[in-house]
Amino acid sequence: KKVILAYSGGVDTSVCIPYLKQEWGVEEVITLAADLGQGDELEPIREKALKSGASESLVVDVRDSFIKDYAFPAIQANALYENRYPLGTALARPLIAKILVEAAAKYGADAIAHGCTGKGNDQVRFDVSTTALNPNLKILAPAREWGMSREETIAYGEKFGIPTPVKKSSPYSIDKNLLGRSIEAGILEDPTVEAPEEIYEMTKAIIDTPNEPEYIDIGFTQGIPTSINGESKDAIELIETVNKIAGNHGIGRIDMIENRLVGIKSREIYESPAMIVLINAHRDLESLTLTADITQYKRGVEQTYTQLVYNGLWYSPLKAALDAFIQKTQERVSGTVRMKLFKGNAAIVGRKSENTLYTPDLATYGADDQFDHKAAEGFIYVWGLPTRIWAQKN
Ligand code: ARG
Ligand code: SIN
Repeated sequence: KKVILAYSGGVDTSVCIPYLKQEWGVEEVITLAADLGQGDELEPIREKALKSGASESLVVDVRDSFIKDYAFPAIQANALYENRYPLGTALARPLIAKILVEAAAKYGADAIAHGCTGKGNDQVRFDVSTTALNPNLKILAPAREWGMSREETIAYGEKFGIPTPVKKSSPYSIDKNLLGRSIEAGILEDPTVEAPEEIYEMTKAIIDTPNEPEYIDIGFTQGIPTSINGESKDAIELIETVNKIAGNHGIGRIDMIENRLVGIKSREIYESPAMIVLINAHRDLESLTLTADITQYKRGVEQTYTQLVYNGLWYSPLKAALDAFIQKTQERVSGTVRMKLFKGNAAIVGRKSENTLYTPDLATYGADDQFDHKAAEGFIYVWGLPTRIWAQKN
């Protein structure tokens, strides 16, 4: 009866520790906090877990893997859920599940636990990812079953020495990491109300952004962003840099009504400057370097891929098969995209690649045009043939 608990330091996951022990007879709770670049101080979180009754408190820095193994493939897939949400939260969950499963093996635990509610997507992502990686592990989700209100949860925690949140805790539910912030609840539950400025941290309000546009050159190697303005950057640094530059211009705010897997529509606010800029730049470079049929076929694959990731199927066989297709398409997606950042907008203003399929001799309307205009006539005769026959009969 040993459990590895996904731990964030918040009230709910802290209360999970005594709850698992008192109510469900778990003997030993080992907490695991993942460093995903959320910017929280992790040492106090580590200590809080021990004070709350954990027998051991682990912190794992997974930032590098998060970007390389989760965010970059999502960029290669141009993954935007319902055409808008760059999956910052959804991409983190399978990685957290992976390190939970690894810790369970290392410490000989027979279950993993998390503090997700029964209304969200995150529970699905944790549970399905865990099962995919080790079908023998049990999954415990106390918050799905305890039915306590926020006040009751805090009161329960106090009985076991879990400190009441000092500052009046935020009315919002916020999940954050290197890829951005996902904000819900509180006043945001009224979809007619504009999100208050106070919820944003990574993006400036347009009224405060620079009055001059800023250009950035984003370099890609086989679909992976590798440089900014000609300077090579490692994965984490690249994301941080683009977040900072784009956030300063108010880019990457998203306000949407989103369809959760569990059937609920929810109002979500995201800020995800780097992912928005990088996906847009990447898609543009693909338009220069991929053939028309791959570009168009890939859109359908991207849609399915995005759906799978959102719906918790990161470790599914279909996802693996789509990965293989996407990786194959990225072999020639190298080059540079120039963007102009200004007042919340990231406009693509130029692109170049050694693998460009853009052929000036064919595209030009000038004197050096190499395109055989006469050939078009026969082509159109054949191309239009079925339509012409149909028109004659009708
Ligand atoms: N709805 C988003 C998703 O499913 C974000 C969920 C974020 N969680 C949170 N506690 N705010 O990916
Ligand atoms: C939760 O309800 O646990 C968070 C929101 C979500 O998973 O969508």
